[in-house]
Amino acid sequence: MLDGLDPATRLDVAKGQLNALKDERLAALQGALRALPPEDRRTAGGAFNTLKTSIQDALEAFGARQGAAAGPAAFDASMPARQSWRGSLHPVTLVIDEICEIFRELGFTIALGPEAETEWYNFGALNFPADHPAMELHDTLYLGDDTLLRTHTSPVQVRTLQRFAPPVRVLAPGQVYRRDFFDATHAPAFMQLEGLAVDEDISFVDLKATLAEFARRFYGSSRRVRFGPSYFPFVEPGAQMDVEVDLGDGKGLRWVEILGCGMVHPNVIEAAGLDSEKYTGWAFGMGPARIAMSRYGVNDIRVLYDSDVRFLEQFAR
Ligand code: PHE
Repeated sequence: MLDGLDPATRLDVAKGQLNALKDERLAALQGALRALPPEDRRTAGGAFNTLKTSIQDALEAFGARQGAAAGPAAFDASMPARQSWRGSLHPVTLVIDEICEIFRELGFTIALGPEAETEWYNFGALNFPADHPAMELHDTLYLGDDTLLRTHTSPVQVRTLQRFAPPVRVLAPGQVYRRDFFDATHAPAFMQLEGLAVDEDISFVDLKATLAEFARRFYGSSRRVRFGPSYFPFVEPGAQMDVEVDLGDGKGLRWVEILGCGMVHPNVIEAAGLDSEKYTGWAFGMGPARIAMSRYGVNDIRVLYDSDVRFLEQFAR
């Protein structure tokens, strides 16, 4: 009933209610006094008066205390203001959201896959030769003989192609794990964003045009990007995209690799159960942490994991 009233009014109402209660109870006691035998009435009357005074005193003290806390007298202009904190999304989350939005506009939907993967999805189906060094223990965190923490989001390519018939255009964000030490450029767990487009007659031109358009929308058209050759077992040909950035370390502009990409290898299309004569496609994988670093001029990846409020609060909007 008192909700929605200002504190001072609420206090007045409360005081009124307490007084009414006091009067009612004291009147009842007084009635009982009258019913006592005359010889008891005097002592009882004295006790009644003491009680009445102390209740009145207590009520007055209560009113004064509450009034001091709630009333205008509580305002002290010399008190320092209370600090208020506004939370913010983590820069890596901001970057992922923004990239997903750009690719959504380009016709992509989101796909997710498990972080605990089988060796087949993580390596075998992706055309890694059986003795590939990346499969050795120093790179991969194994959970069992055949299960591991995925080392990249590329297994989502295979899972998506198994579930959905082309045309397929998906973006797969997710956490990946590697047996790496933390240093300025490596973290043992980090986010990746996988992209996959598979259909009839998809060519390298689609890949380059789409990624260049992404870079224009993300970095602005004045930022330079370049493509160069690269190698991943699951693409052929393989490439990488670099962006020219200033990481704020006084060394000026330099080229930073922000993603690996390429035409999906026919063996991957076949492993997913599709006809590689009929379907072609391209894929890319990027690290949002690296992209956040290239966007915000951060040169040590550990800053993104420290949870230092002085860094994070710069992203509050
Ligand atoms: N999976 C690769 C990595 O982890 C990135 C990549 C994805 C490269 C798709 C090409 C195509 O580095």
